[in-house]
Amino acid sequence: MATAPQTALDPTRVRRDFPTLNQEVNGKPLVYLDSAATSQKPRAVLDALQSYYLRDNANVHRGIHELSRRATVAYEDARAKVADWIGAAEPAEVVWTRGTTESINLVASAWGLDHVREGDEILLTVMEHHSNIVPWQLLAQRTGARLRYIELDEEGRLVLEGPGGLDDLLTDRTRVVAFSHVSNALGTVNPVRELAAAAHEVGALVVVDGAQGAVHTRVDVQALGADFYAFSGHKMCGPTGIGCLWGRKELLEEMSPYQGGGEMIHIVERDHSSWAAVPHKFEAGTPNIAGAVGMGAAVDYLAGIGMEAIEAHERELMSYAMERVGAVPGIRIYGPSSLEERSAVLSFTLGDAHPHDISTILDAEGIAVRAGHHCAQLVMRHFGVSATARASLYLYNTREDIDRLAEGLEKVRAIFG
Ligand code: ALA
Repeated sequence: MATAPQTALDPTRVRRDFPTLNQEVNGKPLVYLDSAATSQKPRAVLDALQSYYLRDNANVHRGIHELSRRATVAYEDARAKVADWIGAAEPAEVVWTRGTTESINLVASAWGLDHVREGDEILLTVMEHHSNIVPWQLLAQRTGARLRYIELDEEGRLVLEGPGGLDDLLTDRTRVVAFSHVSNALGTVNPVRELAAAAHEVGALVVVDGAQGAVHTRVDVQALGADFYAFSGHKMCGPTGIGCLWGRKELLEEMSPYQGGGEMIHIVERDHSSWAAVPHKFEAGTPNIAGAVGMGAAVDYLAGIGMEAIEAHERELMSYAMERVGAVPGIRIYGPSSLEERSAVLSFTLGDAHPHDISTILDAEGIAVRAGHHCAQLVMRHFGVSATARASLYLYNTREDIDRLAEGLEKVRAIFG
């Protein structure tokens, strides 16, 4: 795994790497607090994309010519970087996808249709993003399996014991347990190891939505004990349209393909075909080569700063945000109160102000937050709200950003009383 320098992160220096941050929005310096939706991109990633297109652009694994060779090397080198970064046993365990959503659909479809039957149970949680609910609903509709949901407590943590809890719902009928590493709507950090160990005890497959996990913390997929871990490039300083599915190799090998087409085959006959080895079996068609190269550059960038340094910076900032934003009269913050159980997401409502109005007023101050249900309608329902405003932090945010947010919220209060 890539080694991380142990020096503390200096956000002022980091910000110089991100051209987008250096602009005014509505006449005010931009404060970008929407990284859970998508992160900004450092120059190193933009340069890698440009250099690929300027020098090396060709299709991969097809041509014998020099450009195709270079493109193939760049594409496979990026896979090896990602594999090393997440502690995969080998690069072949990393499948390139369009992102977390496609990765989960791949498992639900390619593994699920062969292994899930009528009467089986698929265990999800109320905390999930729709991308870790709907693919399983489609599978349940096709197979007759039953969906069950682990409930949340009043702080938005998973219930592990008692009614509606993990212990209560996990049975020998459970075929899959799918849950997020970190909630995109609440920031709750889930006990992945504990959940994975319990699921394996009943023989269930463990699928982790890591869209908000690998982005903020060092992930060692083998130590986590999952069977699959899905994440996206664009939330970790990489380009949109690229992501990964990590899977244990023996599982990937015995799975059926997800899509058919070029590059995923070994031999094609008139009425049947045989498949390429993993991971190529799951990569039909011309892949997002530039995206993979960009994601590799993002891994280099994050590893160069150090995931431990990023995590420490974000924790310090979240502590400040909880205190500063929490002091605004009428604020309600959702999610765990303990910093140990919370990642870089601050979801809140303010009195009777609709979150869309909060976001519009903040936008006029140059502050970008997300408002809505955050593709997590079950979470909103749990808390009895239709929407929240959400400020999400990343390595380039500063205490000044939090001050600007708190000042912006005072303006919201002044308007809404
Ligand atoms: N899943 C992304 C978010 O939480 C889009 O905003």
